[in-house]
Amino acid sequence: MVKKNIVFIAKSLDGYIAGKNGELDWLHMIPNPENDDMGYNRLMEEVDAIVMGRTTYETVCGFGGEWPYPKHVFVLSNSLKDIPARLRGKVSLINGSPQAILDQIHEKGFFNLYIDGGTTIQNFIKEDLIDELRITTIPILLGGGFSLFGDTIQPIEFEHVESHLFLNQLVQNHYKRKR
Ligand SMILES: NC(=O)c1ccc[n+]([C@@H]2O[C@H](COP(=O)([O-])OP(=O)(O)OC[C@H]3O[C@@H](n4cnc5c(N)ncnc54)[C@H](OP(=O)(O)O)[C@@H]3O)[C@@H](O)[C@H]2O)c1
Repeated sequence: MVKKNIVFIAKSLDGYIAGKNGELDWLHMIPNPENDDMGYNRLMEEVDAIVMGRTTYETVCGFGGEWPYPKHVFVLSNSLKDIPARLRGKVSLINGSPQAILDQIHEKGFFNLYIDGGTTIQNFIKEDLIDELRITTIPILLGGGFSLFGDTIQPIEFEHVESHLFLNQLVQNHYKRKR
């Protein structure tokens, strides 16, 4: 069974995924009148499940409205003990090392995974567990915040697969791990 871990994320020109105080408003600074999904729906069709850190999960919950994910979401947390009743069956809590987390998820029959969240992505990268990066660059310098990659412990080589230009402003590059 082919297993794949994909990162799909937006970053500023200077490499941040959230501002100094967690600001995310800049992600929507380019008008998108026709609601271009920028590859998101294609990603959702490709993956079996989503793996996200607790902060990202709480951020999404804070948006209110309908639960946005069509696939099962595994939330990584050592502090959360329960999920709201409305999300039971759609969300599960999980913890452990990145490899142990993957082993548990694979055992449940989910093999193509969308990995999301700052610390979460960094922890998976540190263990060389990311197979694809799909990174959209937003043309803004934030000057600080939460860095997408932080300090990886060793050089990790990827190869470019394709690029897309959205809304004439946002460049999305796809890379796959060179193994
Ligand atoms: N630009 C974008 O497209 C984008 C996308 C996603 C997120 N963001 C933003 O990026 C920022 C990054 O936040 P973050 O680094 O805190 O993100 P995160 O990865 O979403 O959450 C980190 C939390 O996940 C839990 N966790 C991670 N690995 C774990 C493991 N192996 N086992 C158990 N728990 C684990 C821990 O929760 P506990 O403390 O509960 O143990 C940890 O505090 C947020 O502001 C978020 O909104 C931006």
